[in-house]
Amino acid sequence: MNVCVMGLGYIGLPLAAVLARSGYKVLGVDIKPAVVRSIESGEIHGLEPPLGLLVIEAIRRGSLSLCDPVPHADVYILAVPTPLKKKKHQVDLSYVEKAVDSVAPRLRPGNLVIIESTVPVGTTEKMSRRLLELRPDLEREGKSLIFVAHCPERVLPGKILDEMVEVDRIVGGVDAGSTREAGDFYATFVRGSIHRTEARTAEMCKLAENASRDVAISFANELSMLCDKMGIDAANLIRLANHHPRVNIMDPGPGVGGHCIPVDPWFLVQSEPQGTDLIRTARKVNEKKTAWLLKRIEETISHFEKPVIACLGLAYKPEVADLRGSPAVSIVNSLCSQNRGDLRIVEPHIKDLPPVLAGFNCCRLVDLEEAIAEASVVALLTRHNSFEGIQARLPDGKIFIDPNGVVSPGWRRSGTEAAN
Ligand SMILES: NC(=O)c1ccc[n+]([C@@H]2O[C@H](COP(=O)([O-])OP(=O)(O)OC[C@H]3O[C@@H](n4cnc5c(N)ncnc54)[C@H](O)[C@@H]3O)[C@@H](O)[C@H]2O)c1
Repeated sequence: MNVCVMGLGYIGLPLAAVLARSGYKVLGVDIKPAVVRSIESGEIHGLEPPLGLLVIEAIRRGSLSLCDPVPHADVYILAVPTPLKKKKHQVDLSYVEKAVDSVAPRLRPGNLVIIESTVPVGTTEKMSRRLLELRPDLEREGKSLIFVAHCPERVLPGKILDEMVEVDRIVGGVDAGSTREAGDFYATFVRGSIHRTEARTAEMCKLAENASRDVAISFANELSMLCDKMGIDAANLIRLANHHPRVNIMDPGPGVGGHCIPVDPWFLVQSEPQGTDLIRTARKVNEKKTAWLLKRIEETISHFEKPVIACLGLAYKPEVADLRGSPAVSIVNSLCSQNRGDLRIVEPHIKDLPPVLAGFNCCRLVDLEEAIAEASVVALLTRHNSFEGIQARLPDGKIFIDPNGVVSPGWRRSGTEAAN
């Protein structure tokens, strides 16, 4: 059976590799020639370590080929981006629409089209109608001759290859036949359970999952800012509160980053602006936390004539090299743009600074020892394991800033800071 994967990015490429390993003949399509070239030359992005080998091996065996134009296949999976537009937190569905438009001419009766991209509720039905408008011959007596379903991805960056196979999947078709076909397809390579529902519920499920995490993190972040104002150590407070058998507060951080959680809740807000007060507020609180931490750093370094700031971590979460949407990158970028001092960046998971920071002369990627030796202020931006206990390891005289809001003892805060 031939499966065409549309979009060979963070999701599509591992999916193509997993399907090829499971015995499918996989046909990969990507509109960016640079993406195709890098896959062909074996230069796979380094976030999922075994992925490169899996892809090279699949191409060598002939079970994965890169195609242009879109080929005929039995199953089409869309793993194209669904970012927010620059303005007003509206989703940009143009990538999904273009992918649908390029698949439409190839479709034959009995084909299955699956949208894995995260989409607002109602999109799968809309795309199913779009396909039939483009191909009216695929509808007979009001009945579609193709199957269309949504199956959201729930993988954790850094563990994508494992989770793609092990984690339960939600599969929702635009009709019972589509749910059955899509569910049966996933059952051939997923070891987790396949939960069958309809398209709108599957779409909502993914959005609810990410909004749920955003809300939970926002509570921890709000607590950390509140504790800071009240002179309470947030980390200790949360540790104590979590001794309650039914309380489980998350760790505060510098905000929320990554590709999904800061984006997907807006899809719900966009669909129901009047019914999403909590979801919208959580987003705002998590954004506020990043601005709050930046302000904390700015206020601290304002006491130095020529501050050197060690920024520990750039990734959006611990133990990954993924910088997408990272609050740490945005904090470092703000400090550099405003020329607030010399920055020593420590990010053990990358070899070079990302393009957005590479142009700043004041900013260098160095190792931990060098950063600490040179810095007067040390800001923990990502809790990588290698930074564990870093505060206790700092030489005397260094000021430590933690995303919890804790500034190292001995540092006298200014009076204005308490009014933040
Ligand atoms: N990255 C994650 O951790 C994650 C997790 C769950 C869900 N998702 C969702 O999966 C979808 C894909 O995300 P991603 O991180 O893989 O994006 P990505 O940007 O890494 O990759 C998408 C790829 O699609 C290609 N593309 C765009 N339009 C195309 C078209 N018409 N035809 C063929 N290729 C096309 C792009 O060139 C790009 O290489 C998004 O909706 C995202 O929200 C991502």
